[in-house]
Parts: sequence; C-alpha cells; structure tokens
Amino acid sequence: MSVYLLGIESSCDETAASVVRDGKHILSNVISSQIDIHALYGGVVPEIASRNHIERISEVVDSSLKEAGLTLGDIDAVAVTFGPGLVGPLLVGVSYAKALSFGTGKPLIGVNHIEGHISANYLLDPSPEPPFVCLVVSGGHTHLVNVHKFGQYEVLGMSMDDAAGEAFDKVARALGLGYPGGPKIDKEARLGDPEKYEFPRAHVDKNELDFSFSGLKSSVLNYLNSLKMRDEEVRVADVAASFQKAVVDVLVSHSMSALDESGIKRFALAGGVASNSCLRVGMEKACAERGIEFFVPPPILCTDNGAMIAAAGYRSFIQGKVSSLDLNAVPNLRLEAM
Ligand code: KG4
Ligand code: ZN
Repeated sequence: MSVYLLGIESSCDETAASVVRDGKHILSNVISSQIDIHALYGGVVPEIASRNHIERISEVVDSSLKEAGLTLGDIDAVAVTFGPGLVGPLLVGVSYAKALSFGTGKPLIGVNHIEGHISANYLLDPSPEPPFVCLVVSGGHTHLVNVHKFGQYEVLGMSMDDAAGEAFDKVARALGLGYPGGPKIDKEARLGDPEKYEFPRAHVDKNELDFSFSGLKSSVLNYLNSLKMRDEEVRVADVAASFQKAVVDVLVSHSMSALDESGIKRFALAGGVASNSCLRVGMEKACAERGIEFFVPPPILCTDNGAMIAAAGYRSFIQGKVSSLDLNAVPNLRLEAM
C-alpha cells in the first residue's frame, strides 16, 4: 500500500506544500515565493514574511492536494519544517500543520530544514543511499555532512561566519545586482573572466573542513570601494565570475577532502546555492576524476520546497518517529540534535 505525505515548508520566504508518494514520487510541488516583496528591501524582512505566510498557506496546501488529485483524508501524515529558520515564519507552518493533524487525526512529523535539503536527493532516480557526503549550501547554511544513515548526521565542517548564499547575496548587492544575488551573479558570471581577479580562498586553521567567506566578501567590497574612490569603472561580469570561482574552488576542495578522508564514494549537493551552474559543473568534474558517484537535485528541489520536507518526513514516519502536538518552532535547531 502506498504512503502519502504532505510536506509543508515556511522557514524563510517561500510558502510551500507538496504531496509525495512513498518518499519518492512527487505528486505536486507548490511554491509561493515572496522574493518580489523582499527584493524591495534588499533582503528578507521577517515580519513581512510571517504575514505573507499566513495569507498564503491555506491556498498553497489546498493547491498541493488538488494537484495531487487527493483530499486530506487520503494523506497518511503531515510533515512540517520546525527549524532552523525565522521564528515567525516557522510558527505559521508549524501551527498550520498542527491544526491539520489535530483536525484529521493524522500523525504530525517535525522536520529539520537542513535534513529536508539533504533529503531532496532521495527524490532522485537513482538516489544516493547512505553513507554519503553531502554539502548543504543555502542562504543560511554551509554544512559539509557525513550522512551515516537517515537521521544520523556528522557535521564535518561548517561556515564560521557568512553562509555561502549570504556571501553571494552581499556581493551581488554591492555590485548593484539586487536580491537574491545568487542567481544574478550566476548569470552575470557567464559573461565574465573567472581568472581576472585573484580573490582570497580562506582556510580555517582549527578544522580544515570549516569554511569562512567573510574575508572573501570583504576583499571584493574593498576592491569595489577602491575603484569607486578612483572613479574607475567596475567590470561587473569579471568581478562576479572571479568571486564565484573563489567560492566554488573552496566548496569543491573541502568536499573532496571530506571524501578522501572518509573513503566514502558517494557525494550529494543540496540547498539553494546548489542551483549554481559553476558549482554543479565543478563538483561533477571533481567527483568524476575520483570515481565518486555524484548527485544533485534539479534547481526546483534545491530551493526551499515542500517535497524535500515530505521526503524527509516519510523516512521519519517509517522509522516510527512522529511528533506530539506540542511541537514548537526551534529557530536555531541543529542537525546533530535530530
Ligand atoms: O535554500 P534556499 O532557497 O533558502 C535557504 O534555506 O536559505 O537558498 C537561498 C540562497 C540565497 O542566498 C540565493 O542567493 C542562493 O541560495 N542561490 C544561489 C543560486 N540560486 C539561489 N546562489 C548561487 N547561484 C545560484 N544560481
Ligand atoms: Zn533552505
């Protein structure tokens, strides 16, 4: 018999819901993005995000059921992101999912957002079976993780300062490219020379698998300021390409070190920055050179979505891990705490 999971995601600026069959087959994947609203402010405004989630969540969930051709009665469990993320936005999804669970009597499953991003890979065919190494790169996280098995994670390295996506967004803003910066830098970089500027590739001494992007970001900002003071023209495409190359070089080299050290032969990418074309190509090439099997979800499953939450929720569900109705939002939820 098939198992149908409804997955709800509202941790940042996407209100999303999806129905997934047997943790694998996506029957619907509805994403209502607030990017246009937050772009006016140059970044996500938590209070505005919360209000928009409240206005949209009902319709998004209804559409996901309708597109799947199902009703609430057909759903076996409701999975929802309960952290990490912005507390107001998280509370909207958690409260809504709790109400659905209470009203229908179906089990509630709290999902860690980072585990959700990793689980987007389980929606692929073929999909990676643990153990595998996963690099989760998003607006809020840069985590290099050894996935021992579902629910058991060892964080091998993480960012000591800015997340990779945050660095993209800040540099894009300085270049006048607008929000969110990642896709804009990606596009602009295609026209530029990645070797034009040698921006620093920072390494963290304490743990060589940790990341630091604030030095790189400052170096780009200082360079842009120096041009401004001299009244010289900014070669936006070259700066974008050189900055992107510096980020990708570090992400690839740390990931390959993690694979070498662990001896694991499977690698997966996840999170919004995993949509980056230069990162996808660079990682695929480095994996091929080492005989490592490489997995990356399509961009629609890299960005925040409900399908990845349903995929993770399904795996918790079949392990009997369900949440009680006193589930609360945990803005700084850690991955190992699962
Ligand atoms: O996973 P996500 O949708 O939300 C969070 O959980 O943070 O990631 C959003 C981040 C933003 O920082 C955005 O600029 C970045 O992913 N991003 C990209 C690309 N597409 C989205 N960064 C680089 N290149 C892209 N193509
Ligand atoms: Zn995310």
